[in-house]
Amino acid sequence: MELDTDIRETARGFHCNLCNVNMPNKPSMDDHVKGRKHQKLSTVRATRKAQEEHSVFVSGFKESTSQADLADYFQKFGPVSEVIMDKDKGVYAIVEFNEKDSLQTVMSQIEHRMNGLKLRVKPREKKEFKLIPKKKPDYNNMQEISERLSSELCQTASVNEQMQKLVERLQLRDNEKKARSLLLQLLQEVFKEFFPESQIHLFGSSVNTFDIHSCDLDLFLDLENTKIFQARARSSSEQAGESMSDDARSEDSILSDIDLTTATPAEVLDLVAVILRKCVPGVHKVQVVGSARLPVVKFVHRELNLQGDITINNRLAVRNTRYLQLCSQMEARLRPLVYTIRFWARQKQLAGNPSGAGPLLNNYALTLLVIYFLQNCDPPVLPTVDQLKDMACEEEECVIEGWNCTFPSQPIAVPPCSNTQDTYTLLAAFFSFYANFDFASSVISLRQGCPLPITAFLSRSGTPSPVPMEWTKPSQERPPPHSHGPKLGPLNLPDPFELSHNVAGNVTERAQKSFQKECQEAEKYCRSLQYQRKSTKGKVWGVLRLLTPPGDGPRKTSAADKKELVIGIPFKAAQLPETVRCQLHSAGDGFRLLWFQSVCSAVEELFRNILKCSPGSATESPMKQDQGPKSETAMDTADAVFKTPSKSAADNNEAGLDRASSSSETSPQVPAAVGAKRPLCSESSDASMSPQEKRQRLDSSPRSSSQSWTWVQRHKVWAGRRKVRRELLKGVVDVGPEGSSPQLETQVTEHIVKTEPEEKEPLEFRVQAQVLGGTESTKTVVKFRTTNDRAGLFQDFFHFLEVFLPKMVDTLLERPVS
Ligand code: UTP
Repeated sequence: MELDTDIRETARGFHCNLCNVNMPNKPSMDDHVKGRKHQKLSTVRATRKAQEEHSVFVSGFKESTSQADLADYFQKFGPVSEVIMDKDKGVYAIVEFNEKDSLQTVMSQIEHRMNGLKLRVKPREKKEFKLIPKKKPDYNNMQEISERLSSELCQTASVNEQMQKLVERLQLRDNEKKARSLLLQLLQEVFKEFFPESQIHLFGSSVNTFDIHSCDLDLFLDLENTKIFQARARSSSEQAGESMSDDARSEDSILSDIDLTTATPAEVLDLVAVILRKCVPGVHKVQVVGSARLPVVKFVHRELNLQGDITINNRLAVRNTRYLQLCSQMEARLRPLVYTIRFWARQKQLAGNPSGAGPLLNNYALTLLVIYFLQNCDPPVLPTVDQLKDMACEEEECVIEGWNCTFPSQPIAVPPCSNTQDTYTLLAAFFSFYANFDFASSVISLRQGCPLPITAFLSRSGTPSPVPMEWTKPSQERPPPHSHGPKLGPLNLPDPFELSHNVAGNVTERAQKSFQKECQEAEKYCRSLQYQRKSTKGKVWGVLRLLTPPGDGPRKTSAADKKELVIGIPFKAAQLPETVRCQLHSAGDGFRLLWFQSVCSAVEELFRNILKCSPGSATESPMKQDQGPKSETAMDTADAVFKTPSKSAADNNEAGLDRASSSSETSPQVPAAVGAKRPLCSESSDASMSPQEKRQRLDSSPRSSSQSWTWVQRHKVWAGRRKVRRELLKGVVDVGPEGSSPQLETQVTEHIVKTEPEEKEPLEFRVQAQVLGGTESTKTVVKFRTTNDRAGLFQDFFHFLEVFLPKMVDTLLERPVS
């Protein structure tokens, strides 16, 4: 019966009000109702209901009253099963009787008195049972922290003090550290039993000096000595034939099934998982994650409420943890900076991927960004990794997996820095540094403490290619022979030791942009008096404002926040074909404009050929260049270097595109007509040009950083594309995702144009593309403005373009140059 009220039908299937879940159909709804969660909640609800009907709410007694006193008093109305008191929230209690009838007896008595005080006794309120998801205490959540901390931080005397207080409040307490070390000891003992002579090393936040309550326990199980042990045991058992001693047998038992020198990490980790499950008390939720870059066994320690990760083959992490420790020892301002920045990043949802993997920065990457910034202060606060290497003595030399990880073991070996800026000034400078950082063109090198031009990596970032020379020149050493350049992405931050690993390789364009945007916001705030001066009115000031989660507090809406008809196309070096990357590489600083020209060609091809737009009214300046001379010059340049998508499409006849254009479009003397293609003469001359000639021409060509077109669309080519695509694709396997084939998308449009009626009022709109970069990440911004939208079509068209345009441009740019 209850089921009827819990389940309701929805437009998309069923919804369970009790468990707050949706089910798409009846079978899944039936399964859900029979399932553990639903059953358990139904039972809990029934129990609560019974408790409500058996108990009374009592208040008005003395604070010293005990549960036993209350039980004694109410016993006379019937047997009492339980008394629950909540002294924290006010003095009240719930007295539960064995029988429902006792309740009526209690309520029938007009007055209740205890120790001379009049008690207030009333039946329990009938509350609707609601599923309240269990909330784990999240000490990393600034909302919780700020509730407890905000008044404390408000009252401190300076921002420096606020930052220091943050460290004190967030870092692990002594008892937490002790509990961790006991667990480590236990794990060490257990693993030694099964893997003789193995060692467990802690790395990451528990020991890198940036620990916070509830941070996870990163462990490296070092089996090198066990391998030696195993080899020794094998050879002695071979020598002894069958007569291996029982001792050796038992010691070797767990290892007898596995040869550590040949076993895969996954096999070893499976074994580790079994040991954890069976032999370590308190450990549960053991899970092998073999798909991670470094496969890992995850577990939770129930009593300590601690999450742990065990990896093997992770010596580099132990070493980079030591590096972070050294940085903290060298520079006292680093800890308050990192704590504040980690917290800020967490609050702004920029770092700390909740489930481990995700598109945001990880804490390690964020810490490296802070260190890199400190290397770049004037004068520098921290030395570069190469400088540290030179300060180390011979005994400190350390090479792991071919990577040079040498640095002094003690901070005393490092001369003190001459930078005396306050921590709070450095914090503001950090935001300013990254607010203006050119992420698109730079690879952040902690080894050299400076940005390396991305162009140095472009031609080499395929798989696998060698580490660029730029790495090796200053360090005067060879990288490991198998190494390759880091995987390039929107944020390029190679590990300071494992140079082929981009620690921010997971960061998406969006996450990188958010990071920069929040840095810009923070930079602005840090210039205000509110940041620098304590509020006399007890208002939020200093770092507290920076630690407010988005959505909290007043937020000014900037022009950028207002809905503008703008689509961004980020520069994604890694996705470009190898040959194009090489050409960009050769262009040096001019790569941005060169890339922009190819984006413009792609945008033009998209509107003209794929979406079948026609040129707009002649009064609009056609394909105008807002800077620089005639359009064909700039487009020639792109053609010369890129062999633009339009051209390659024509050459390959790839999309079967209609490339007929009016003669004015191809005139080299006047700006081409709206949406014009480049002059064909340049194509033929390009073909006969040597690469050197092309480069010369490129170098001497003036280039435009902005272009615009006016287009007319007479059909709703954005509506119903998916259906048409499906029809066209019937029986065709593996054509790739939507937007991955210009040919197919062209056919889809053609189909719509053929079958759908023409709009009475054609839509006319202006498109303006502009390249941004330099102090910002390189991107092309495409702005839209309607010049005729009487039928009100553009909003829909724009929604479609928001997804379609960047995807299609990517596809066109990625297309191999023939
Ligand atoms: P985390 O990003 O988890 O940092 O990496 P953390 O300092 O432990 O912070 P919490 O745990 O999120 O609070 C943990 C460790 O893993 C290694 C580093 O040693 C780092 O300290 N690591 C991480 C790498 O070596 N490379 C990476 O790309 C990421």
